[in-house]
Amino acid sequence: MHRRELLKQSALAVAAFGLSRDIFATESRTLLYNNHDADIIKLSSNENPYGPSPKARKAMSEAVNSCNRYPWENTTLLREKISVPYQLAKENVIIGAGSSELLGLASVLAALKKGNIVAPDPTFRLWIPAAKKIGAPVKLVPLTEQKAVDLQRLKEAIDADTRMVYICNPNNPTGTVLAPNELETFIKDLAPSVIILLDEAYTEFEDTKSVAHLVNEYPNLIVAKTFSKIYGMAGARVGYALAHANTIQQLNNLQPWANAGAGGVSLAGAIASLEDTSFVAMCKKENAKARNLFYQALDGNGIPYIPSATSFVYFDTAKYPKDFKAVLEAKNIIGARSFEESSKWLRLSVGTIKEMEQVAAAIRL
Ligand SMILES: Cc1ncc(COP(=O)(O)O)c(C=O)c1O
Repeated sequence: MHRRELLKQSALAVAAFGLSRDIFATESRTLLYNNHDADIIKLSSNENPYGPSPKARKAMSEAVNSCNRYPWENTTLLREKISVPYQLAKENVIIGAGSSELLGLASVLAALKKGNIVAPDPTFRLWIPAAKKIGAPVKLVPLTEQKAVDLQRLKEAIDADTRMVYICNPNNPTGTVLAPNELETFIKDLAPSVIILLDEAYTEFEDTKSVAHLVNEYPNLIVAKTFSKIYGMAGARVGYALAHANTIQQLNNLQPWANAGAGGVSLAGAIASLEDTSFVAMCKKENAKARNLFYQALDGNGIPYIPSATSFVYFDTAKYPKDFKAVLEAKNIIGARSFEESSKWLRLSVGTIKEMEQVAAAIRL
């Protein structure tokens, strides 16, 4: 396919991601088949531009040789390893094919209880269609003026029929973080019958405090995390959730085969990546530097933005005199995406320093 056509298709697919997963799959396939087109800079899905880690790559290559066996031992080992830093047990951990599988399971669990689900808007929405299909209406609650999750308004939206509240912390697409004490108070005050699904996909980028230590105290709390972001393994599809053992059991019951979503090669990579602490430190440092570079570029063009604790930035192009997306796409940079109707706020993933220098050059007025 001609490169210009590929770029057009990719950009269209990225724009449509909120509407259609099929189109997104097409885009991913296209990029895979055209991997030699390295001059396209893809900043759409908050993927880690450095990963997987060297240790994970080695472990995954070796694990290919054992693909004739079911990977149960590695599933158990990974669950054990994940539980340790939180002083939990493997019974508090469920593994999924990416955390999106587990977000889906949690929302199905809530929807089966017949009632509504409350979530901020905008936020990460991949789990919403499954919940709606099962019949759970999703009540969307606007963010604060500072684009942060509004705990007070979420609380007000919860009624006797609410079965789940979803919170993404830090929030995608805005990158904001909730004050730990306010979030803990919110969890404590919630009725035990309401599941609280805490999506912590990006906590590692700025050491955002996890609430996973609370799961044994609050069986309605489910904390979802992923190897797709700081660990750079989005394509390997490994995610996990931490919850009370009884809640994990309920989630396992919704999996055709408990914890079997991630394949042996991916599990080997996930285990090794947990040990590659220097790689994680490098990703954090480089992400912060590249994000700062992007902040400077936005400042230089008078574009307001929300300081982010993640690997993406949310910014307001209302006063930017050109078509921001088009300016980037003209330089083969795709991924600036809108999450609010009738708004000029966009999200762009943070790439490498070199990539963000190219972004800075492209948007310079
Ligand atoms: C907030 C949030 N949660 C979950 C996910 C899904 O990640 P995974 O690749 O683990 O399914 C993403 C991916 O972009 C995300 O941004």
